[in-house]
Amino acid sequence: MLDIKITRTTTPKAKPADETKLGFGKLFTDHMFLMDYTQGQGWHDPRIVPYQPFTMDPACVVLHYAQEIFEGMKAYRTADNKIQLFRPECNGQRMMDSAERLCIPPVPVEDYVQAVKALVEVDKDWVPHIDGASLYIRPFAFATDVALGVHASPTYTFCIICSPSGAYYAEGINPVRIYVEDEYIRAAPGLTGFTKCGGNYAASIKAGEMAEEQGFAQVLWLDGVEKKYVEEVGSMNIMFKIDGKIYTAPCNGTVLPGVTRRSCIELLRDWGYEVVEDHLAIADLMKAGHEGKVEEIFGTGTAAVVSPVKELDWKGDKIFIGEGKIGPVTQKLYDTMTGMQWGKIPDTKGWIVPVCQG
Ligand SMILES: Cc1ncc(COP(=O)(O)O)c(C=O)c1O
Repeated sequence: MLDIKITRTTTPKAKPADETKLGFGKLFTDHMFLMDYTQGQGWHDPRIVPYQPFTMDPACVVLHYAQEIFEGMKAYRTADNKIQLFRPECNGQRMMDSAERLCIPPVPVEDYVQAVKALVEVDKDWVPHIDGASLYIRPFAFATDVALGVHASPTYTFCIICSPSGAYYAEGINPVRIYVEDEYIRAAPGLTGFTKCGGNYAASIKAGEMAEEQGFAQVLWLDGVEKKYVEEVGSMNIMFKIDGKIYTAPCNGTVLPGVTRRSCIELLRDWGYEVVEDHLAIADLMKAGHEGKVEEIFGTGTAAVVSPVKELDWKGDKIFIGEGKIGPVTQKLYDTMTGMQWGKIPDTKGWIVPVCQG
């Protein structure tokens, strides 16, 4: 149990006047959570302080060698004005797994969840009120040692910031076009694909920019060894409904184990669908698409919850799915997940963690 010291701002910012114009990740709340790590002492000085810039030495390890990890989650305001989280312990566990791979001392899951809850409660007035909008929460940890030389830092900072974010589908759910990346790769066995480290995203930007220039929403990554099997999308896992069964890549080192992925798989199995967590060759997927057997494709992730896909392009070959409309399974997952998150339907899975009255 952390003993969190709270220092409230004396100059609170004005809350956004129009919650329909929040966008994503541009506006930050009044406070942040901080905790320091020093070798020999462990994590210490947990505190909530006014949101403020860091002072950093130019030789700080993270700026050169990217020893950094992060998480992404949301707080939701229900119609009866309760503030709640969705499976925060899953994000806490994933951050511990990322920490281990990046040689960053892990923050125990209970402390992670306690810190998130404490910060959300202090900034509860920032949790948006309108349908579909939420408070995006960004925990991250980074190396702070001042020394050039590739080594594990003896000191770290763990920080949490929050950003009120608009409804992802403010203009309705629009199925997206996805570019199957055939040149660059995101992950390979033994590397950091299963972690949420900044370096993974830095290496993905080029392919993402190139796809965007051609009108695609995101890239679909293939495995890094043979470029033969589908893995995941830029910031989502991906699922394929083919001939009644749902296929998604296994999480065995190269794919980020998404909290939404895991939740959708549990729901799909509850509903009687067979979910196959196995390698799916892109060539087989395209063939099935041309034969009209690909019924639905959708990405899963915290930001969009589910994102239906209407087109896949692989080396000039294209398949079109569901006549450009969201499929029934995708829609049911969306309704169930968002229903639980915003408290519109009962939480039959025990996934909701209350924070406070709003
Ligand atoms: C690369 C990648 N894959 C998958 C996901 C989906 O994970 P989650 O459902 O936990 O948001 C994300 C988003 O965090 C991501 O960045």
